Amino acid sequence: MCYAIPGKLVAIKGNIGVVDYFGEHRNVLLDADAEVGDYVYAQGGVLISKISAEEAENTLSFWKEQFFKLKEVDQRLSVVKKTGKESANTLAILQKVTAGKPLSKEDMLALLKLDNASELKLVYETANNLRQKENDNACCVHGILEFSNYCRNDCHYCGIRKSSKIKRYRMATDEIIAAAEHAVKELGFKAIVLQSGEDEWYDDEKLATVVREIRAMGVLVFISIGVRSKETYKRLYDAGARAVLLRFETSNKTTFAQLRPGANFDERLELIKYAKKLGYIIATGFIVGLPGESDEDIINNILLTKSLGADMYSFGPLIPAEGTPLEKAPRTTKERLLKTIALARFTDPEAKILVTTAFETLDINARREGLLAGANSLMLNITPMQYRKLYHIYPGRPDTEKKIEEGIKQTVELLYSLGRAPTDLGI
Ligand code: 5AD
Repeated sequence: MCYAIPGKLVAIKGNIGVVDYFGEHRNVLLDADAEVGDYVYAQGGVLISKISAEEAENTLSFWKEQFFKLKEVDQRLSVVKKTGKESANTLAILQKVTAGKPLSKEDMLALLKLDNASELKLVYETANNLRQKENDNACCVHGILEFSNYCRNDCHYCGIRKSSKIKRYRMATDEIIAAAEHAVKELGFKAIVLQSGEDEWYDDEKLATVVREIRAMGVLVFISIGVRSKETYKRLYDAGARAVLLRFETSNKTTFAQLRPGANFDERLELIKYAKKLGYIIATGFIVGLPGESDEDIINNILLTKSLGADMYSFGPLIPAEGTPLEKAPRTTKERLLKTIALARFTDPEAKILVTTAFETLDINARREGLLAGANSLMLNITPMQYRKLYHIYPGRPDTEKKIEEGIKQTVELLYSLGRAPTDLGI
């Protein structure tokens, strides 16, 4: 099984390469030695490794037929069907989307307020159609490795906040490297997201070693380690990390200050911008359904994600975690999440939009529905079983009991049933 299709490098312009997948071209950042004519793997818009023609042709012979079949399925599922029950206003707004015109805040608010099933269906279908037109059937699948649940922060929503009385763990550097190696060599992952609480036990030296060793496996290294110094982010870039996952959590500064005591909103944004400037691929976003959230907040969250130059949108519902100040907070609805995905797609047609694990926790079908409402990326948990339960950000995560292989099988079946293929989306 694999989560990436190799492509052929067909052109190089400066530090950008053009990769061909069965006739489709994607621009990627060059981050491995490769020449025009070479077979390569790209992930998250980064060319990460060159492979031999023999290996590529073996993999491609499987994909060739499959790829065109999947495309057909995707095209079939990306049709927009009006029911005739939609209001003139909704149709006018969606018409703008189809014509490639930007939506105003007012338009976005109107869509967010919709609650009629046939109108919502049209919104999701329009977003899915736009995703298909802009990004075809490409879908990123990354592996996420949660290597420490120690955190110096005390965020009101988070189950691993400093004051949570939970069992803590820290994987040793060689343990992290071994777990990544298993995911790469045995399970076929080509992108590894290294996530932890804000845990300064891992100094720059330790983190750089982990990044360097994993990058040497020929994969994309994503870091998701919270706020650290700019020097750390620079050092890890130099060690080979090429993507950063760091949510701003909410664009509402008052909410941020209330829910994240001691944390600084501006500092977090500044760090995301700095990482972007360093050349990192940026994944950022927010939590949907924090207490007091207004529709305007959601729209501002989407607009802030875009203005930060996010390559990938990462947002999910608040899942109230026991023992945290928000344990009794109401759950948000699946519809609100799906609308947020669709609005993010309308705002940023070319973006990668993740269906996150929290989404699946909220509703078992949400991954499928999210992928049909504009999303086109997902992450699978590759944390060793003994630690998974301990990375208890919120309860009910569907992946804590499921074996990795089982999770992968279900995901691949889901993606195939939707006609999605793991070609890279490019930049
Ligand atoms: N529900 C949903 N998402 C949460 N996160 C933290 N706690 C929760 C929760 N209870 C998210 C935050 C953080 C990411 C790693 O997990 O957005 O950035």
